[in-house]
Amino acid sequence: MDVEVRPGTAEDHAEILRLDGNSFGTHPTEQDAEDSFAVDPPEFLVATVGDRIVGVTGAYRFASMTVPGGSLAVPGVSWVSVSPTHRRRGVLRALMDRQVRDFAAEGAPAAILTASEGGIYSRFGYGPATLVRRTVIDRPAATLIRPARDAGDEVRLLTAEQARPVLPELHRRWREQVPGALDRTEPWWDSVFRDREQWRDGMSAKFYLVHPEGYLSYRVKHNWNDGLPAHMCWINEYAVCTTDAHAALWQVVLGMDLFGSIESLQIPVDDPLPFLLTNPRQVRTTVVNDGVWVRPIDVAAMLAARSYRVEIDTVVHVQDPLLGDRRVALTGGPDGASCVPTDRPAEVSFSLAGLGSAYLGGHRLQTLARAGLLQCEDPALLGRLELAFGTDRAPFHGTAF
Ligand SMILES: CC(C)(COP(=O)(O)OP(=O)(O)OC[C@H]1O[C@@H](n2cnc3c(N)ncnc32)[C@H](O)[C@@H]1OP(=O)(O)O)[C@@H](O)C(=O)NCCC(=O)NCCS
Repeated sequence: MDVEVRPGTAEDHAEILRLDGNSFGTHPTEQDAEDSFAVDPPEFLVATVGDRIVGVTGAYRFASMTVPGGSLAVPGVSWVSVSPTHRRRGVLRALMDRQVRDFAAEGAPAAILTASEGGIYSRFGYGPATLVRRTVIDRPAATLIRPARDAGDEVRLLTAEQARPVLPELHRRWREQVPGALDRTEPWWDSVFRDREQWRDGMSAKFYLVHPEGYLSYRVKHNWNDGLPAHMCWINEYAVCTTDAHAALWQVVLGMDLFGSIESLQIPVDDPLPFLLTNPRQVRTTVVNDGVWVRPIDVAAMLAARSYRVEIDTVVHVQDPLLGDRRVALTGGPDGASCVPTDRPAEVSFSLAGLGSAYLGGHRLQTLARAGLLQCEDPALLGRLELAFGTDRAPFHGTAF
């Protein structure tokens, strides 16, 4: 089978959408085509066999991803699928290899993606870098230690029209505090507010709870439960910038009579909510999964773009079977870093996926070392690297793509 990979064009969009639908089990409509491609479409690569498109990958151009002490412009890989008629014959590998080479040629420091399945991407050098979890709160049982009756005065319930001009600035402020958080373009914000019925999973349109220093949006799934009302509140956006906003928003959410549970994939693993409750177990974590995956490309640029919690001066080797191994001298600390190619002997050696997993501070380097994803002969240096790569906040991407 001869597979060719070429850039996708606007003429390919209908076929790409059909392929996507066949792979993910949906029947895309005209409306989907308009929503997906009318504004800000991703850049596609398509794999062809003869005159058939049998595979696709795309890249969104986010303005940036927050990293400790700064930000990094990274392409966001999405729309990955291969026709059920051509699976396990190397089509995805052909697409992934070409895409990373293209990213390298244009100077991208790294690429990111979110994965439909956890077994696909580490072979292509992507390492899981952030965590998401599903939380379930039994609302009537969740009691605040220090309820503040007037906290709700600061919170408003806005319509989508009222929230549209307000949320981007609050999101920007939140994003700057959280490593891994993704910026959004204006067309992306438009898509957040489009809120089409077929993407609501049987729930209501979004409600917007907005505080001057944070917001959350949620959907409602009704359950009148034969007279013992137990609706579900599904939090689908959560961007809180201050302690006061956090307390005020939860005061309101936990006070929502008729609701039995509050569920979400958006509450980061280090959210302080359990400590506000008389019983911290009321924030139950039912699933922990990978969030965003990072594939290092320009290792020196990527390592120089972030700050480090303690001073570090070392030589890092990164194994890259596709683009070639790299050895770089990294000098950094809380105020920033420099990183340049070097011939000096390496003191620590990462696999590609290992560096991707370490980069945003979401995983302990000791854990990655124990998994064989990095080697460091000097335990004192490994301990220092772990401190250096650590972050104040658990990394969280916050935007599905
Ligand atoms: C995932 C998908 C794109 C793979 O395409 P493919 O052309 O069959 O993949 P390839 O033949 O190029 O496989 C490359 C490697 O990945 C492995 N692989 C492919 N799909 C995998 C999966 N779902 N889980 C685990 N490993 C997988 C292959 O076994 C192969 O391994 P190897 O390197 O050891 O030989 C395809 O199955 C698909 O479209 N799935 C449904 C849509 C989807 O989930 N897309 C991903 C969105 S993030």
